[in-house]
Amino acid sequence: MDVSPFVFKPGDFFRDRLPPADLYVLCQIVHDWPDDKVHEILSRVAQSCKPGAGLLLVETLLDEEKREARVALLQSLNMLVQMGGRERSPGEYQCLLEQHGFCQVQVAHLGGILDAILATRVGP
Ligand SMILES: C[S@@+](CC[C@H](N)C(=O)[O-])C[C@H]1O[C@@H](n2cnc3c(N)ncnc32)[C@H](O)[C@@H]1O
Repeated sequence: MDVSPFVFKPGDFFRDRLPPADLYVLCQIVHDWPDDKVHEILSRVAQSCKPGAGLLLVETLLDEEKREARVALLQSLNMLVQMGGRERSPGEYQCLLEQHGFCQVQVAHLGGILDAILATRVGP
């Protein structure tokens, strides 16, 4: 019997219906994509996400002025060249998330290359 709280399911997040969950974790997924594709991904998560469920993004955060976080800026350039994506600031993540019904956006700088952005899905 599987008692793990984590369930991994294969699938294409642009095509397959996402399974219901209490928490969705997107680790270094959003930074691969330009805004229009990020909206598509967030919209699909929001459709499967019950009110009160969480969405945790794990990404490298830029500072709001895009001047200070040099490693993140370099990584952002790398994402742009390789994938057409980019790194984003806390404000940019908040704006993207709120457009898909996610609120209470909390940001944690974890002290390494990756940071955390946690948001909660509000009612439909
Ligand atoms: C930058 S990697 C991050 C992998 C992992 N989450 C991590 O943090 O190590 C991006 C991942 O997105 C996956 N991916 C790209 N397009 C996808 C899609 N349409 N559906 C599901 N996964 C996809 C890629 O296969 C790749 O594993």
